[in-house]
Amino acid sequence: KPIVLSGCQPSGQLSIGNYIGALRQWVKMQDTHDCRFMLVDLHAITVRQDPAQLRSATLDGLALYMACGLDPQKSVIFVQSHVPEHAQLAWVLNCYTQMGELNRMTQFKDKSDRHANNINAGLYTYPALMAADILLYQANEVPVGNDQKQHLELARDVATRFNNLYGDVFTIPDPFIPEVGARVMSLQDPNKKMSKSDDNENNFIGLLEDPKKIEKKLKRAVTDSDEQARIYFNPEEKPGVSNLLSIMSAATGQPIAELVPSFEGKMYGHLKKETAEAVVAMLEPIQQRYHEYRNNLDYLNQVMAAGATAASEHAAATLRKVYDVIGFVPRP
Ligand code: TYM
Repeated sequence: KPIVLSGCQPSGQLSIGNYIGALRQWVKMQDTHDCRFMLVDLHAITVRQDPAQLRSATLDGLALYMACGLDPQKSVIFVQSHVPEHAQLAWVLNCYTQMGELNRMTQFKDKSDRHANNINAGLYTYPALMAADILLYQANEVPVGNDQKQHLELARDVATRFNNLYGDVFTIPDPFIPEVGARVMSLQDPNKKMSKSDDNENNFIGLLEDPKKIEKKLKRAVTDSDEQARIYFNPEEKPGVSNLLSIMSAATGQPIAELVPSFEGKMYGHLKKETAEAVVAMLEPIQQRYHEYRNNLDYLNQVMAAGATAASEHAAATLRKVYDVIGFVPRP
């Protein structure tokens, strides 16, 4: 079976963007792939986190993973900081990643604009840690949203460079990006992506959000002020409307091409209402299951412990190989 690895940052409540762009694909891949899914707390601290919040967001994320359908019997589910090889390989890869490559990363530029008072070295070398995450497990496929594509290309470049120097050490990973919903946009500013750590909470919908609140947020979503309020799909001319159509399509499974005619002669209000209904229906089973997992700390601990052990085995084997080919003397 092909190997899959992916993860989310526990830097806030997971959003419908995370679910539609990534998690939903993970759930499907569990039966056909050899899967590893983590919560990347090492990545989360590249932006300053409140310790208590980080701790609870990590456990929330774990419970949500399972509420969404990740199954610890099928997949290895773990917390990144429990497997020290991530940090160890990241250091090595830092020495094989060029500053010029990191300078081109759009996420670094975005985040250093948003967090101008804390442009730390970790934020800058973040993609080397992400490459380590992927390469440690020799992953073949990495299911992510569109915003991670550039990081994945860097991981491929670094792996190729390393292999050219030392032989076939790393598998070159392929991105797996969904056709619909790879880039769920912000509700108030549909020209930027929906982000769980957005300062304006009207921009995103959390997976645990109350149905009433979801309805309200979608009702307030920015559409546009066309003279004729026509509903059609064109992200450049109609970013807000197109975003709602994408969300609705992802939530119902109906292709956008089928949705558009069903709104002929209708108003934006209809689209918002039906999108809200579709999102609420998509989240209902997840929300129902969530609390049971979140309240069972023993079970969460069990999953984390088993996940860390399983992940470590694979990760340690790769790290040993890497240390060997670069010339480190093994610890006697
Ligand atoms: P993160 O935590 O920002 O997001 C987790 C996953 O959700 C996807 N995603 C979206 N998809 C569609 N529309 C959106 N608005 C949206 N927002 C987020 C992301 O593309 C991602 O797949 N660097 C990664 C975490 C990471 C990782 C890895 C991923 C660390 N190491 C190794 C894959 C493999 C991140 O910040 O994701």
